[in-house]
Amino acid sequence: MKRIFLLLLTVVIIAVGFAQTTKDAKKHQFVTTLMSKMTLDEKLGQLNLPASSDFVTGSVSSSDIADKVKAGKVGGVFNIRSVTKIKELQQFAVNNTRMHIPLLFGMDVIHGYRTIFPIPLGMSATWDMSLVERSAQIAASEASADGIQWTFSPMVDLTRDPRWGRVSEGNGEDAFLSSAIAKAMVHGYQGDDLSAPNTIISCVKHYALYGAAEGGRDYNTTDMSRVRMYNEYFPPYKAAVDAGVGSVMVSFNEIDGVPASGNKWLVDDVLRKQWKFGGFVVSDYTGIPEMSSHGMGDAQTVNALAMNAGVDMDMVGEGFLNTMKKSMAEGKVTLAQINKACERILVAKYDLGLFDDPYRYCNEKRSATEVFTAANRAESRKIAAQSFVLLKNNNVLPIATGKTIALVGPLANAKENMTGTWSVGADNSQSVTLLKGLTDAVGTNGKVVYAKGSNLEDDAEMQNRQTMFGKDITRDNRTAQQMIDEALAVSANADVIVAALGEGAESSGECASKSNIDIPEAQKRLLKALVATGKPVALVLFNGRPITLNWEKENVPAILDVWFAGSEAGDAIADALLGKVNPSGKLSMSFPQNVGQIPIYYNHKNTGRPLTGKWFSKFQSNYIDVSNEPLYPFGYGLSYTQFEYGDIQLSAKELKGNQKLKVTVNVKNTGSVAGKEVVQLYIRDVVGSITRPVQELKGFNKIELAAGETKTVSFEITPESLKFYNTNLKYDWEAGEFQIMVGPNSRDVKTVKINWNK
Ligand code: BGC
Repeated sequence: MKRIFLLLLTVVIIAVGFAQTTKDAKKHQFVTTLMSKMTLDEKLGQLNLPASSDFVTGSVSSSDIADKVKAGKVGGVFNIRSVTKIKELQQFAVNNTRMHIPLLFGMDVIHGYRTIFPIPLGMSATWDMSLVERSAQIAASEASADGIQWTFSPMVDLTRDPRWGRVSEGNGEDAFLSSAIAKAMVHGYQGDDLSAPNTIISCVKHYALYGAAEGGRDYNTTDMSRVRMYNEYFPPYKAAVDAGVGSVMVSFNEIDGVPASGNKWLVDDVLRKQWKFGGFVVSDYTGIPEMSSHGMGDAQTVNALAMNAGVDMDMVGEGFLNTMKKSMAEGKVTLAQINKACERILVAKYDLGLFDDPYRYCNEKRSATEVFTAANRAESRKIAAQSFVLLKNNNVLPIATGKTIALVGPLANAKENMTGTWSVGADNSQSVTLLKGLTDAVGTNGKVVYAKGSNLEDDAEMQNRQTMFGKDITRDNRTAQQMIDEALAVSANADVIVAALGEGAESSGECASKSNIDIPEAQKRLLKALVATGKPVALVLFNGRPITLNWEKENVPAILDVWFAGSEAGDAIADALLGKVNPSGKLSMSFPQNVGQIPIYYNHKNTGRPLTGKWFSKFQSNYIDVSNEPLYPFGYGLSYTQFEYGDIQLSAKELKGNQKLKVTVNVKNTGSVAGKEVVQLYIRDVVGSITRPVQELKGFNKIELAAGETKTVSFEITPESLKFYNTNLKYDWEAGEFQIMVGPNSRDVKTVKINWNK
């Protein structure tokens, strides 16, 4: 029986392999034949990716972009938000160019298309890969219904510096968690068949190390050892490649002194040769010409650098278009390189099915019926509520029915800000504010009263910088005191105060670096006045980055971090505040006590002089004026119930070779309501040929427990989980002692020891 089964299995494997080879051969044949008819100019045209700005109004045919398309000088266009316009431009390209090659339409579909999900940092706080994947699936299905075939997501830059505004776009400080998210997102967008009309090509970005920009200042220099790159910063990009991501975007920053856009080692050696990436590489927005400002040479030189590095598509720069022929004539690039780049773009178009039907993704009916649907919005609301992190709760939340709630703060009624940064496809006029969500949810079972309480910032210019791209928060011209007085008057008869404070949507995201990550003074003043009333206050914190919250942690009875939760934010927050949903998010980035602690991350090295005594200890690695502890550690988040962790049980304490270790722990819900808990497994490799982090996440499991229920959670550790890149960049594990840690966050863990020999 077993034999027959094995035989059948082999036959199936061979048949599938054969079908794939035939499919690949057909594709290759098609693209080769097509390219044999193309001129050099037409090939270079395929490498050109302009932005869509110039036919916002009027007809395509009279636009600047149309002229280029007609001349065969465009391979794709990005950020057009209309199926009609995309269809019109696609028709124009197919009908008016000599080769009739369809265009590729891309967009920054970062955390949803029209139905917006939490910002990625919030999504990562769900620690729920099925929800992450589902959000990407919905995003792909909506975007593809509107003509989009390619998204510039996921962003998996490892981030340890909350001053950097783009931490909002990523998954935080941990490579293991971010790798899992990368995989889920790529699969969510691409599915199993790129030619299906509801899947799109994913583009992992920004390759590489962009999150390590010095001082947290955007676009700034990065510089790190290869050991750190390979062990800490590279894995999430590699995970996306292993998951079959179709494209990769190179970053703005330099690596080893060479900008990523022209870094042959990075693109050709690591990405293509070591990781076997077979898709296409796109530059970031004018990333290629910016190499001139980096000091890498004139336009021709930097474009040749990019081509030699292995970049296939030039976003906005137009330098491939304008300099490549000259570089070829001068022997600085080869025709073979240009051919290869062109082939990769055409293969992507082939995989999308565009040569079968250029209008595959231009289905007005789908656009009208499958975008921003009630079902998608309901899923977004559900997912959003899972991203909230309860940072503190002194019996304020959930708010019982029948109460009068005073909702106060500049973010309580700020529709435009709910979707957060990078929500290009959103219609913010449709977003649900907290005022609306809470008022609807309370209904007649209580009362919601509202006052704005303060501006986002005292200084109008500071506020402008954080509320761009239509994310306005109307400024109130009353004095700060007048606004506070109104808030106090409104709160006077309330049972509980909900303070909706924090950052504006554009306080984070691209080019939104900050040197002060406190809640702005105007709002802090308000918060202090509210707390001084002695009434229970819950701070609902809107933020695109970790915020310094020392005073708040000390003095505000409850803090719920809601990030920017998307188009359904208000309803989802109301669900959590009223206890319809029990918060279960966990931080994916440490919250520092102050900016002086940055970079602060849980998986740091021990140093030769770790703090062993009490802070402060002379001649040990610590600060005079602040302890080494974060305010809230990686993995942290509370619940309306409590969980009790049993002792760690191991299948063995002494292991050898390729054995597997089973780690088991019982988790009990000791409270009175159901709740979800993210059980986290960390290891420490105590001795290594290079120094190893004090802790590394190696597993997590989100479970749901009814009140009083106990569940047994198991993890499996294999030698594969112990591997790291040594000083020769060899990926292997080393025998010796390991600590195994399990707990509800990176700080409050139980620890046991094992030995693992070769
Ligand atoms: C950003 C990318 C983005 C691109 C296209 C750049 O400025 O760095 O993340 O995908 O613009 O909008």
